[in-house]
Amino acid sequence: MSKLKIENLHVAVKDKEILKGLTIEFSSNETIALLGPNGNGKSTLLQTIMGNPNYTIISGNIWFDDKDVTKLSVDERSKLGIFLGMQYPSEVPGVNNSDFLKSALNAHREKPVSLFEFYKLMNNAYEKMHIPFEMANRNLNEGFSGGEKKKNEILQMLILNPELVLLDEIDSGLDVDAIQIVANVIKEEQSKRGFLIVSHYAKLYDLINIDKVVVLINGKIAKVGDKSLIKKIDEQGYEWMKAEGIEFKNEEKMSSVSIGTCATKEALKGAKK
Ligand SMILES: Nc1ncnc2c1ncn2[C@@H]1O[C@H](COP(=O)(O)OP(=O)(O)OP(=O)(O)O)[C@@H](O)[C@H]1O
Ligand SMILES: [Mg+2]
Repeated sequence: MSKLKIENLHVAVKDKEILKGLTIEFSSNETIALLGPNGNGKSTLLQTIMGNPNYTIISGNIWFDDKDVTKLSVDERSKLGIFLGMQYPSEVPGVNNSDFLKSALNAHREKPVSLFEFYKLMNNAYEKMHIPFEMANRNLNEGFSGGEKKKNEILQMLILNPELVLLDEIDSGLDVDAIQIVANVIKEEQSKRGFLIVSHYAKLYDLINIDKVVVLINGKIAKVGDKSLIKKIDEQGYEWMKAEGIEFKNEEKMSSVSIGTCATKEALKGAKK
């Protein structure tokens, strides 16, 4: 079993401190739901764990078992068994999807994968994800629809076989059938690896097993609970947490925003009134 341990992490983006002393642990035998209002640092946390150089660690530690990963490159972290399914997967023109997957897989292995084994792996992953196999020959994410990009992230996870999976709003942009497909695959994979799953919607969380619910507000873990916390946030938003003394990043317009609504849309509606 592998464990990621994050201690008192402070992270800045473009000189602005976003994570302000965040502590969390995450093991390969558990699934954590990570919630929190827009712009409070969820993606920042996931990108920092994966080693995106745009996020600067001011202080604090990230341990993968007994290894300090803060100085490791994205590749090295990936080889350790960390995987990030991104909120906004990038298009990579000129890089063929299956070539990319094969190179990524080979980078994780001592001996290159045989053509036969690779084909079997790919076929199985494409079938599980209900993605037409022809898409393996397209360029990575180029011209993919929003939902296709998200499904392709899970497909990469299936091929790379990581121990700790970070999923950043994997369900946004997915139609109802696609959410079901993604949830079924996550559910099947939960016994094999750990998941830290960011979503604004109760729907995905309803379809999978959740061991712990963690709420990130203003760059810190503000609250930890069980699945009932997701329901409460879905119905009531985050406003009620203020009464518990939790310090918010933005005081304005929190009350009308639940995890099932779009914050920007709500804010605009408020502004028009
Ligand atoms: N390149 C950047 N320059 C300036 N600010 C940035 C940059 N990248 C991120 N931020 C800011 O960092 C804060 C945290 O962003 P982050 O993406 O981590 O939020 P989030 O919790 O994932 O939100 P959401 O739920 O909307 O995805 C935001 O206020 C964002 O505007
Ligand atoms: Mg985000």
